[in-house]
Amino acid sequence: METYDGAPEPGGAPALSDAPLPTAEEANPEHAAKDRPAEDQTVTEAAADEPVVEQPVKLLPVAELHLHIEGTLEPELIFALAERNGIELPYADLDELRARYEFTDLQSFLDLYYANMAVLQTEQDFADMTRAYLERAAAAGVRHAEIMIDPQAHVSRGIPLETCVNGVASVLANSLAEFGVSTLLIAAFLRDLSEESALGVLEQLLAMNAPIAGIGLDSAEVGNPPAKFERLFARAKEAGLHRIAHAGEEGPPSYIIDALELLDVERIDHGIRCMEDPDLVEHLVAERVPLTVCPLSNVRLRAVDTLAEHPLPAMLAAGLNVSVNSDDPAYFGGYVDDNFVQLQTVLGLSEFDRVRLASNSIRSSFADDERKTELLAELGYS
Ligand code: ADE
Ligand code: ZN
Repeated sequence: METYDGAPEPGGAPALSDAPLPTAEEANPEHAAKDRPAEDQTVTEAAADEPVVEQPVKLLPVAELHLHIEGTLEPELIFALAERNGIELPYADLDELRARYEFTDLQSFLDLYYANMAVLQTEQDFADMTRAYLERAAAAGVRHAEIMIDPQAHVSRGIPLETCVNGVASVLANSLAEFGVSTLLIAAFLRDLSEESALGVLEQLLAMNAPIAGIGLDSAEVGNPPAKFERLFARAKEAGLHRIAHAGEEGPPSYIIDALELLDVERIDHGIRCMEDPDLVEHLVAERVPLTVCPLSNVRLRAVDTLAEHPLPAMLAAGLNVSVNSDDPAYFGGYVDDNFVQLQTVLGLSEFDRVRLASNSIRSSFADDERKTELLAELGYS
């Protein structure tokens, strides 16, 4: 099984994730800032009747653990690829496309997300999309990325598995040297399709020795519980692959419990609805289960009404192992840095909490211990 950029063989224990969190004194954000411009971005903080105050926001080195590569297709790239491939889009121009980015729920987004994948035809298309993401992610402070791809969404429209996997993988293979971002690839399976379909694609991926570090579970959550995919996740575990699953985005807290118990996942993607179940929160805290939270996504897909009402501060206060991620940044109004800026602006997230979120992301990754140590040192932990 190939891995990228010094990542561990799948199944290797991420020992650092069990290390106790340093205290605020041990974490030294000033040190973390030494290799970056002191003021990477500014945010504007002002109540309605107060003068605008520019607050410097430092970019922290982070791991992005929840990212769908197809969700990084920016409108401009959609049009460029459509032109290159002679595909007629159902939108006359960028404005008409952007006008569709008003989502009412997860499904309304998924409809557009899958439709726009039509422009991805060749290995070059997948490679160009991946390169564009890594360039933007590096500028956002991302130093390690675990990138999901939805193979079934491509195979089902006649694109060979090799085309999509090799196109993305060819860029990930050089991501550390080219962008300073170590990467791992995760094959995500569409939970609204059958388990047989997923098992068939997983076997193909294994047969072609695809460079995947793990599997995930995404797409329409409600009505497609984890129990549907027990055999898939057992097969992935047997093959030495890491396992993650979306749960508790729109679905109930019981889906989080089932993903942990029935699928033996190592991380939960989203997981925000755990806050409805105090016993579950207690369990997640005790086990330090990583939850890859995506604040801007949650607002855009109406999982929460506004960012001001997002449960992230309560999740941090409860001691949950949360990180901040962009999910589908081209659709949800921003990359990881945009998420951090909005969190600081709207929720007043402190520097201590931002360092904690960054540290959680690194510790919860599947990167090897050497890479984790390197990134934690950049963050100010030694
Ligand atoms: N596929 C891409 N983005 C997703 C999300 N936020 N939830 C479920 N499936 C997805
Ligand atoms: Zn997602």
